[in-house]
Parts: sequence; C-alpha cells; structure tokens
Amino acid sequence: MANDWRSFEPLLIPDIPNLQKIDVYEENGGYGALRKILNDTEKWSRENVTNEVKQANIRGRGGAGFNAGLKWSFMPKPDGGPRYLACNGDESEPGTFKDRKIFEYNPHLFIEGALIAAYAMTVDTIYVYIRGEYIDWVHMLQKAVDDAYEKGYLGKDILGKGVDIDMHLTYGAGAYICGEETSMLESLEGKRGYPRVKPPFPAQKGLWGRPTTINNIETLANVPLVINNGAEWYGNIGAEGHPGPVLYGISGHVENPGVYELPSGVPVMDLINEVAGGIRGGKNLKALIPGGSSTPVLRADQLEGVTMNADSLRDAGSMMGTAGMVVMDEDTDMVDVLWRIAHFYHHESCGQCTPCRDGTGWLEKILLKIKNGEGEVKDLDLLLDLTTQMEGRTICALADAAAWPVRHTINRFRDEFEARCKKSVHAVA
Ligand code: NAI
Ligand code: SF4
Repeated sequence: MANDWRSFEPLLIPDIPNLQKIDVYEENGGYGALRKILNDTEKWSRENVTNEVKQANIRGRGGAGFNAGLKWSFMPKPDGGPRYLACNGDESEPGTFKDRKIFEYNPHLFIEGALIAAYAMTVDTIYVYIRGEYIDWVHMLQKAVDDAYEKGYLGKDILGKGVDIDMHLTYGAGAYICGEETSMLESLEGKRGYPRVKPPFPAQKGLWGRPTTINNIETLANVPLVINNGAEWYGNIGAEGHPGPVLYGISGHVENPGVYELPSGVPVMDLINEVAGGIRGGKNLKALIPGGSSTPVLRADQLEGVTMNADSLRDAGSMMGTAGMVVMDEDTDMVDVLWRIAHFYHHESCGQCTPCRDGTGWLEKILLKIKNGEGEVKDLDLLLDLTTQMEGRTICALADAAAWPVRHTINRFRDEFEARCKKSVHAVA
C-alpha cells in the first residue's frame, strides 16, 4: 500500500456534523443503498447482494477476518421458519473500542448494513448485542432504531416493498465470553453465556436452533459502501486481500490515543508516529499488540515494513484481530503486562473445559510468582508447555486467546523474563 492513506476521506465516520440524526444521514445519501436494492429486486436479488458482498471481501472486523459475504452464503435455503441476524457489539477484547464510535457518530450506516444483510439472507429478525458497559451507546442506538422505524426503514412493509424486518437491542452484563458468537446466542436466549461446540455452526443451528448469522458492527457498516459503489471500488481501498476502511483503535503510550479511520494496510510505524502522534514523552517504542489482547505481541524490531492487514501481520508473526493496537514504550514491564493479560483470561474463562478453567489459572499463578521475583527459569518452560496443553483442546477460542500471548511474549522477551527469575539448581544457564 502506497502512502495514499494521508489523503483518505473517512467513509464509516465521515466528518459530517449530526450524522447520527436520521434527517442528516438521509440528506447525505443515507439509506440509498437499501432503496437501490428494494427498488430493483430483480437486479438486486438476495443472491446477487450476497455475491456482491462476497466479491468485495469485507473481512470480518470482529477479529477473525472471515469474508462476510461468504458467511452469509452458508445460510441454508429458507424453509418458512424463523431465521436470525445477530449483530455483535460486545467488543470486550482488551484494546478494542471502535464499534462504539459507529453507535455514536453513524448508527444509521450500521442499521442500513444490517438491513441489507437481513434482506440478503431472508432474515426478518435482527438482534443487536451490546456490552453492558456501553449503556449510553445502547441508548444512542435505540434512538436511531426508533427513528428508522418511524421513517419506515424498519418494521412491516419496509419502504412499501413488502419486506418485513425488525431490530431488537439487548445488552450484556459484563462477561467477556458473551462476545464469543455461540455464547452470545445462549445469552440472547436468556441462558448463562456458555459457548457451544462447533459444528454445528450458527448458520445451521443458531438462535433457538434456527439458522443464524453473526456479524460484527463495523463489518455491517461496510455493507452500504459496497452496494453504493460496487465490489470493485471497495476492493481498491487499502490492502489487497483485506480491503476497505478500518477503524484503528490506538491505545497505550502514544501522544494521541483514539479511534482513527483509515484504509487497511497502513504501515504500523506511520500509525504510531504520525497518526497517534508518536510515543508519549519522546520515548522509544518497545512492543506492540496489533489487534486486541489475544493477538501476539511484536517487538519494535519486528515492525519494520509491517502494514496493518492480515497477510503482513501473519508474516510478521501476529494477527490483525480487531485492529485495536496497544502501544508500549521502553519502560514497559513485559512480565507485568503478561500477568495482567493472564489474569484477565482466567477471570473470564467460563469454566466448561478443564484445559481452559485450570490452564488459565495456572498461567496466572505461575506468572504472578515470576512477577514477584520468586519464579525459576524452569517455570518459563512450564508455562510454554502449558500453552501447548491448552491450545486447540477446548470448546471455544478463549483458551487459545489466553495461551498465545503467554507463548509469544515469553519467546519474544525471554531475557526479560529470565532476569526476573531467581537462580535455581534447575535453571538453564
Ligand atoms: P472463527 O475463525 O472460528 O470463525 C469466524 C466466523 O466464521 C464465525 O462466525 C464462524 O461461525 C464462521 N465459520 C468459520 N468456519 C465456518 C464453517 N465451516 N461453516 C460455517 N461458518 C463458519 O473465529 P471466532 O471464534 O468467531 O472469533 C475469534 C476471533 O475473535 C479472535 O481472533 C479474536 O481476535 C476475536 N475476538 C474479538 C473480540 C472483540 O471484542 N471484538 C473479543 C474476543 C475475541
Ligand atoms: Fe469456557 Fe474456556 Fe471452554 Fe471457552 S475454552 S468454553 S471460555 S472453558
């Protein structure tokens, strides 16, 4: 990707005052993509809409990067029974705080995207699941939903075109695991948020056993852009293979933390030094978590030439995740960072699987011992061994998300961890 990100005009959160108001949204072309589809359902059949979105390759912005249109295409053929779209606004991953900007500044773009998704998948009920800590943002979105009902974009016979779609908002109660897609379905059904075994995937057996698709809020906000401008136009924004605008959430030791909308594929160092104003107090960069706490940390010397897209970050040894970048300066204590991450995952494990329930507890305990200067070098190898006992052996990805930071932080900052360990007869020199 060239340096053209500097001239990029935001598309998801454009600089238009009061865009959260439905009249202003409409004056600026809002709900035009939905009208375009419903005014010509022959051209824009459900299948054609799905194909256009699939071709655009909107990579899921919730963290997994799955092609959104491809996911829609997994929904079975309608059988006359209920089908659901569940929109994931739980964003509890540490370092991730971007979906709330859409609720605040451009909620109708998300509603319009969700409506188009529902139309494409023959869904008539949409649920939006928002983290409980975002109660102010729940109210903001509820206002937008009420306005959309009033204007005939939601409810019965949308725009007089014979399509019925309802949208219901609900919010969590502080459990990180309820952002995991199947746990979210349990929570929506009013049960404890225990993840389900996959397969069956939600498209086959989702809410109340019926076909369901789960998409992230930012992912759905990209959909009207594709319908308005075409998959080819969309594919030319940002990085090939991971196109489109991205909401980068930059936090940590930078001068100007915040959410910035830019194309995918911006060089990591430009984001830190130019977009976020550089390291606080003129210090040096030590490490970066590129996409939320479950994505492997990278040392500063691993970041040269790395851009924010799935392929580049994979080659560098990490992942794009949610593009929630946590920047750490030269004074950062990596042992403390890792212990805090381990503490978080232990606290949030739902406890269904032994490798996760016990494994996250052991990770935290051993790291606390090392943090307190009471660990031994052999404990580092014990930690690494534990990560292999946890990874890929559980119902959901939380155990992996807990194991990866431990493995990669120890391997990439081994000297720092060893320096914190007391000498022991078992220590490897
Ligand atoms: P995943 O890769 O297992 O699945 C991605 C999506 O594709 C899911 O919706 C899944 O149902 C669907 N899918 C995959 N294979 C399929 C198949 N064969 N048939 C039908 N559907 C299929 O990833 P998952 O568990 O959905 O998400 C994990 C990611 O979430 C992590 O990488 C992490 O970065 C991110 N995350 C984000 C959080 C946030 O706050 N936004 C919180 C925690 C994790
Ligand atoms: Fe629960 Fe952890 Fe198992 Fe996921 S991996 S189902 S969080 S115990």
